[in-house]
Formats: sequence, C-alpha cells, structure tokens
Amino acid sequence: MPFTNRIFSGIKPSGDLHLGNYLGAIKRFVPLQDDFECIYCVVDMHAITVWQDPADLRRWTYEIAAAYLAAGLDPKKSIIFNQSQVAEHAELAWVFNCVARMGWMARMTQFKDKAGKNSENVSLGLFAYPSLMAADILLYKATHVPVGEDQKQHLELTRDIAAKFNNDFGPAIAAKGYEEEYFPQTEPVIAGPATRVMSLRDGTRKMSKSDAASDMATIYLMDDADAIAKKIKKAKTDPEPLPSEAQGLDARPEAANLVSIFAALADKSVDDVLAEYGGQGFGAFKPALAELAVSVLAPQATEMRRLVADPGEIDTILRDGADRARALAETTMAEVRDIVGFVR
Ligand code: TYM
Repeated sequence: MPFTNRIFSGIKPSGDLHLGNYLGAIKRFVPLQDDFECIYCVVDMHAITVWQDPADLRRWTYEIAAAYLAAGLDPKKSIIFNQSQVAEHAELAWVFNCVARMGWMARMTQFKDKAGKNSENVSLGLFAYPSLMAADILLYKATHVPVGEDQKQHLELTRDIAAKFNNDFGPAIAAKGYEEEYFPQTEPVIAGPATRVMSLRDGTRKMSKSDAASDMATIYLMDDADAIAKKIKKAKTDPEPLPSEAQGLDARPEAANLVSIFAALADKSVDDVLAEYGGQGFGAFKPALAELAVSVLAPQATEMRRLVADPGEIDTILRDGADRARALAETTMAEVRDIVGFVR
C-alpha cells in the first residue's frame, strides 16, 4: 500500500456543539494524535449549505476550534484549521461533482432528512455536500476518518468516489506514473460506546445541534456545571433499575443512552458500567453520571469560554494549520489537475 496512515475529520459550525459531538468525535480525536498524522478541520464551507448568519458562522467556527483545544488537541502535533482557508477543498470537490452521479447523492439519508419535502428549494450545495466531504478527506489521502455513526453513509460514498476516480482516470494515472490506486479506500473509524448519543428527552432521537424541541434534550459543551447537572437530573428514564448485562438495555433506549454516555465519559465499556451499577435505580445512577459529566465537561467549557473571549490565539492556530494543510493539498491538487488534463 502506498498510503501512510493519516487521520482526517471535521465538524460543521452550524450550531452549538453538544455531548454527541464530543463523545462521538472530539474526545476520540485526542489520543489518535500520539500515533498518527492528524488533520482536524472546521468545515465552514459545509455549514453554508444551509443558511448561516455570518456572525453565527464566525462564532461557531471559533467555538469548534476552542473545543478542539480544550479537549486536548495540540496544534503542534495535529493540523487544526478551517476549510475555507484552503481553496483546494472547493477545487477538488468540483472535480468530484463531475465524477459522482446524481443518483448517489439523491440516496443520502442525511440529504433526504434535511431536504424533507422541500427538495426543490434547498441549496445545490446541500445536494453536493458529500462530494465536498470526499474532497476534504481525499485531498490529504486520509486513510482513517473517526466519526459518529451518522456519517457512515457519507464515508461509503467517499470510497465510491475514490474508486470511480481511480477507474475513470486509470489510463491517465498510469501514463503519469502515479500509483494505480491514486486515492485510497478510506476506512471509517466508528468505535466506542457512544457513536450515537441520543436526546435526553427522547431516547429514539439523535442528539443534534439543531434540536429546537427542547434545551433540556441536549448537553452543550458550553454549558456550565449547573446546567449539565440539571439536564441529567431531568433526563427521561424508566422506572426499572439498571440491568446487570448490556442485553437488558435492549428495549430501554433512554437507559441505554445514559449508560453509554457514562461509559464513554469514564473510558469504560457498557459492561463495566453495568457491573458497577446493575440493580441500582436512576436515583443512584443519575447523581453519579452528573458528577462524572461535570468533572469532565465543566473545565473544558471554562477553557472554551476563555479561548473564544479573545480569539487572537485561535486565529493564529487556524492560520498556521491552514498553511500546513495547504502545503499537502497543493501537492494532491497539482497531480489531480495533471491527471484530469487541465493545462497549466
Ligand atoms: P457534524 O458537524 O454533524 O458532527 C461532527 C461529528 O460529531 C458526530 N456526531 C455524533 N456522534 C455521536 N452522537 C451524536 N448524537 C452525534 N452527532 C454528531 C458526527 O458523526 C461527526 O463525527 N459531515 C460532517 C462534517 C464533515 C466531515 C468531513 C467529517 C465534513 N467533512 C470529513 C469527517 C470527515 C458533519 O456534518 O458532522
């Protein structure tokens, strides 16, 4: 294999960050930077596929960068930047728009969910969203992408786009002397106990940035200790005690969600948590969970607030990260132009 292990992942500045983003993504980014070359992006160009007030877009971009840093990402080890500073993302996405098929995009469940019955009126960018995502990843020939479960289908499409590009341009790739598998088959890394954190008010709905239904459904990364504790205390549960084995959570979505959150926050497995709390009711479990969540999240919220209050430090980190990302992106893009037949 010609590819060295390289990690890429991104978060979209389209709302306040929440516990799902932390446990499904950010927390998992941190240990990877010790063993791999890691690139972590704030995907602001994806955010504008639906309308964003420019002031909000800016604020949320800083918030994600602050969350990365507060969680322990080290800008000396990892490349941290925002997508729009590296124009090659848009350029490669255009090439991929011409490789991917309409039918592939139309099958994306996230597009169908977001467009709903209104598909004639959503932006063209929203339809082409997965093509830009493939460009994010393949511009760096990333081999592994840590994400939550909801991104799985987009990553499958990324593999399809890579394979079709490699195939369509096979003769040109060979003629130019590049490796036959020009773009890698990137692996999604969807692991750990909390790849799909659910709403605290409804265990069948995903916790999301745009949950307008209730503020109590979502723990935001900027929440203070009181808000975190209150939301956990008020979280929907059932009257049964916790089971001793994971199987006992099968038809209990709210209980399963809280146990998964506990496990992910404590770096334990669901089985470990149930071994400790099986047989106990939520009267005992919720205060333990609240204490754990506050101890992990509240200090990060404090650090995030400090960083966003004076974003000069973040500006410097994003600019430096963008310079390093661009250096890698330029190499790929020069080769892609050459393969496609663009004259320079
Ligand atoms: P976004 O911004 O919606 O979410 C960022 C990350 O958080 C994960 N996530 C969750 N994990 C567990 N439980 C939840 N309830 C939950 N909600 C969100 C997501 O799976 C994701 O890992 N399309 C992407 C952004 C993107 C990207 C990329 C990701 C653009 N280009 C390239 C990876 C690689 C998105 O909108 O994520």
